[in-house]
Parts: sequence; C-alpha cells; structure tokens
Amino acid sequence: MKFYITTPIYYVNAKPHIGHAYTTLAADVISRFQKSQGRDCFFLTGTDEHGAKVALSAKEAGKDPQKFTDEVAQEFKTAWKNLGIEYSDFIRTTETRHKERVKKFLENLKEKGILYEGEYKGLYCTGCENFITEKELVDNKCQNHKKEPEQVIEKNWFFKLSNYTKQIKELIESDKILIRPEFAKKEALGLLEQGLDDFSISREKVSWGVKLPWDENQSVYVWVDALLNYITAREYPNLKGKWPADLQLIGKDILKFHAIYWPAMLLAAELDPPKELFVHGYFTIDGQKMSKSLGNVIDPNDLVKDYGTDGARYLILSQFPFGQDGDVKADMFKEQYNSDLANGIGNLLSRASNLIEKNFDGEFEKKESSSVKRDFNVLMLEYKLYEALKSVISGFSELDKKIDQSKLWNLVKTDKEKAGKILSEIASEILVLAGELELFLPETAEKIIKQFTQKNIKKQEPMFPRK
Ligand code: MSP
Repeated sequence: MKFYITTPIYYVNAKPHIGHAYTTLAADVISRFQKSQGRDCFFLTGTDEHGAKVALSAKEAGKDPQKFTDEVAQEFKTAWKNLGIEYSDFIRTTETRHKERVKKFLENLKEKGILYEGEYKGLYCTGCENFITEKELVDNKCQNHKKEPEQVIEKNWFFKLSNYTKQIKELIESDKILIRPEFAKKEALGLLEQGLDDFSISREKVSWGVKLPWDENQSVYVWVDALLNYITAREYPNLKGKWPADLQLIGKDILKFHAIYWPAMLLAAELDPPKELFVHGYFTIDGQKMSKSLGNVIDPNDLVKDYGTDGARYLILSQFPFGQDGDVKADMFKEQYNSDLANGIGNLLSRASNLIEKNFDGEFEKKESSSVKRDFNVLMLEYKLYEALKSVISGFSELDKKIDQSKLWNLVKTDKEKAGKILSEIASEILVLAGELELFLPETAEKIIKQFTQKNIKKQEPMFPRK
C-alpha cells in the first residue's frame, strides 16, 4: 500500500519560521506513522521560488533572484535537517524538471481550449500573491498583510473555472475530496456558493517565473506554478501509481487555492483530485499570525540550538491541537521543556534505569503491556497529533507516579520480589511508549529503546538536561 503526503511549498522570500516548521513536522510525523503501519510513504516538501514577492525580496537583498532563492532554499533544507525531518523529495520551482513539466501541463490545457486571453483590471496583493476584490479589504488594506493592494491592469491568460465549480462542489460534499476539519469544508463550500471568477494563469508584469510556452511576454502565475509541484515532482505526465495524493496538509490561508483552483486544474487535465486536504491553524503571537511580513517570527533553528532536535520537535508540536490556532510566547518554551521533558520523561528514565541497575543487576523481565487504553493509532489516523503526543507524555508521567506511589526505592529493601515485578512492568511499558514516541521524537525513542533492551541496563546522562 502506498501513501503520498505533501506540504505546501514555502515562499523563499525569507528564511523559515516555526509556522513553516509546524506543517513540515506534522507531515514528517504522519509519514513516520504511515511507514510504521507498513505503507510505502512518499513525503514531498519544497520551496515556491517565483513571483513578484520573491523577486522583490531578492531586489531588496541586492541579489540576483536565482542566487537569492538558492540561498534561502538552502536555509529551508538546513532547518529541516536540524529538525530531523525525513522527506522523500524536496522540489524547488526553479528546477528544470519542474519548469518543463509546468509548460507541458499548460500547453495541454491550452490545446483543450480551457485557457483564454483577457484583461485583468483590479487589485493585487503581492504578499498573498493574489488577485483580490474590494469586499475583501478592511480599511482599504489586505487583512493578511495589513497593506494596501496595488491596482493592476494587464493582459493575462485565464482559466475557465466556471466549467468545474459544480463538479468540485459535488466532490467536496460527497467527501471524495475529504476536507478536514469540518470548518474548512464549510468554508470551501461557502466560497463555491458565493461564486468565483475565472482566474489568471499568467502575469504580464511579473518577469520572475516560468515563461508561457506560447507567449514569452507572460510568466506563469505563481500560484499555478506552485500548485503543479505536487505532480511535477512525481514526473508528470507519467503519474501512474504516483497520483492522487492521499493527504495534502495546508494552512488555512491557502484553502481556496487547494480546495478549488487545484482540483479544477486537475479535472481540466483529466487527472484525479487529491483524496484529502487537512487544514491546520496558525501559530499566533499576541493574537497575530506569525509571519515575516508582520515581523514576529520564531526561528526553528534557535529552538534546536536551545533544546536539541527532539526538544524543538516537541515544543513545536505540543502547543495546540492540529487544526486550531494557538498563541505562543518564546519564554513559555523553557518552562514546558523543563516540566514535560527534563523533569518528565528524562527524570522517569533516570529513576527507572537507576533502580534496575542498583538492585537487579541491570536486568528486568519483559512483561506483556498492561497499558491503559490510549488508542494511539486511532488518534494518529485522525491526525490528532497533539492528542497522540500528549497521550504518550502522560503515559510516561503515569509511570513516574507509579514509582512514587509504590515507593519503589523502599520496596526494593522490604519486598524485593514485588519491587522487581513492578519495575519490570514499568520498564516494559517504557518500551511500548518509546515505540509511539518514535514518530514524534525519533532520536530520544531510539536511545530509550537501546538503553532498555541492552543486557546490562545502566543509568545514563540525562536525556533532556534541565535548562
Ligand atoms: N507558497 C505558498 C504555498 C504554495 S503551495 C502550492 C505559501 N507559502 S507560505 O510560505 O506563505 O506558507 C505556506 C504554509 O506555511 C502555510 O500554508 C502554513 O502551512 C505554514 N505557515 C505559515 N505561517 C504559519 C503560521 N504562522 N502558523 C502555522 N503555519 C503557518 O503560502
């Protein structure tokens, strides 16, 4: 069985922040879960490198756009490496493989008569890379970027969206394109209800992009260019066995593009729509979305520097349920690291291994798991990553309590046999929990498994030193 999971490809106008890391880490955890279930999982991520926004950032940095994007794309790769993310492929939209397949895709649509030439006259927000309408503005400003959009008049090639809206509505209503959580499905259906205009697939006034094969004065609209990454990375048009995606993770800001434009483009090309879109919420700071344009970002590399790879993974994934928004403050991280990891898992492991080493010659008898039912797999199948992670953490803290309640350090003196039995149960359970923890904190889980399966268990250096 195969499983294909994608993240959005990130704009390289600036280096990654923990919002980007959040989606990529979630995909990493789901991909590890799918693999643990015996599926052949392909996990795609990458960078969105064309368009007005990236060109402007390159200009501001005084760099040639290709050189600029090479550097920032590398920053994304480095951050993902630091976070222990194991993707199958990383696609950059400036790569030849991508550009050629984009051209092929659009040529095909043109031949089919789905594209037509027209004039766009209206507003454009470069921050969103989106054509927007008056009614979307608040105080004349785009709500996402708090900036006034520009007035644009230019020749564009358009896509006949109206041909597909009815079919897309049916696909979403029937869950053939499953959109979760429910609020996002409702929002997508609401957008279709309001009615949507045909959209531009090219821009005349933006030169940093893939050129339209039949009109060199136009470059492919960056959103069309970007969405196609999900199939260009799978060698479009040779997609047999590689498409549709089983799960596309996105932030809620880009729902319209993924729930409507993307399926429409696929239907036009006679390809299947994705099976599922899972839409998650934002990291906010004082209620504002964390973003480069608002200048309130936290760098994931700083978290790795302060708390290690697994510490950072934990802190990013444990803030709020996947699908909702959550406000974070950088100074909360230390407290949470100390309570959940240093004093939590770390302390339990030290205590348990110490008791085994000192009183039982470093050995315990493996017991069948008496595990409290935590239905970990059910949570994972529903992408309840936060709840699944919390259940593992609370599993560890229950074991810590068990050491306290049974006063094991006294019991080993008064009733060694009983103490040995309890300790064996605890150590066996630690191994079960480590198997689940592996999806989230792979390095830690590997160390735990190594420590508790070796012949001579010994207390080791603290896994999570206190900060
Ligand atoms: N390049 C487009 C996506 C093209 S996909 C074909 C884009 N890039 S982005 O870099 O602005 O954001 C991409 C994704 O990063 C969001 O959809 C979301 O998954 C994640 N996040 C960016 N900021 C975020 C937060 N503050 N919080 C959580 N996730 C955030 O849009």
